[in-house]
Amino acid sequence: ADRRRILGHGAGVVWLTGLSGSGKSTIAHEVEKRLAERGVHSFVLDGDNVRDGLNADLGFTEGDRGENIRRISEVSRLFTLAGMVVLTAFISPFEKDRQKARSLFEEGEFFEVFVRCPLELCEARDPKRLYARARGGAIREFTGIDSPYEEPENPELILDTEKLSPDDCAERIIGMLEEAGIIKNE
Ligand code: ADX
Repeated sequence: ADRRRILGHGAGVVWLTGLSGSGKSTIAHEVEKRLAERGVHSFVLDGDNVRDGLNADLGFTEGDRGENIRRISEVSRLFTLAGMVVLTAFISPFEKDRQKARSLFEEGEFFEVFVRCPLELCEARDPKRLYARARGGAIREFTGIDSPYEEPENPELILDTEKLSPDDCAERIIGMLEEAGIIKNE
C-alpha cells in the first residue's frame, strides 16, 4: 500500500507468451512507452537483458527453459513487490512453467497474454534468420520446428498479431491494466 501511494499506481506482471517472431518484445516496448507517458514505473524483461546475463548459462532443453522461466518469474515477483509493472517477453512454451510462474503472484497481479501468430507468418518474418537455420538443422530444439509450443489454456488476453498492429496490441494491454485497477483510467 505504501508503494502504491508513493508511486501512484499498482503493480503486476504482464506475461507475454508466444512463438519466436510473434511480436512479444515489440509489444512489450510499446506498452512500456505508453506507461512511461503516464508516469507508471515499468520494466521489460526479455531475451536481450536476461538470456545474455542472469541466464547466460541456460540453453533450450525443456529443463533449461523451465529454469529460465523460473528465474524470470522470481525476478518479476521481486520487481512487482518493489511496486513496478513488469512486462516479460519470453516464448515460455510450457503450460506447467507458466502455471508455476502464475502461482508466485497474488490473484489479479498476473496477466498471461497469448501473443498469437501462425507459425508460417513467424517463419516468414524470421527477423533473426533463426527459423531458416532451424529448418536447415543448424539449430536444434527450435520452438515450432522440433520443440513444442503449448498454447495457453486460459490466458487473460489473446492478441492476434496477424491482424492487430503493435499499437493496437499495446492499447489492449493498457485497457486490461486499467480495468484491473493497476493503472488509472485515462
Ligand atoms: S524460452 O523457451 O526459454 O521461453 P526465450 O524466450 O528465453 O525462450 O528465448 C527465445 C529466443 O531465443 C528466440 O526468440 C530466439 O531468438 C532464440 N533462440 C535460440 N535458440 C532457440 C531455440 N532452440 N528455440 C527457441 N528460441 C531460440
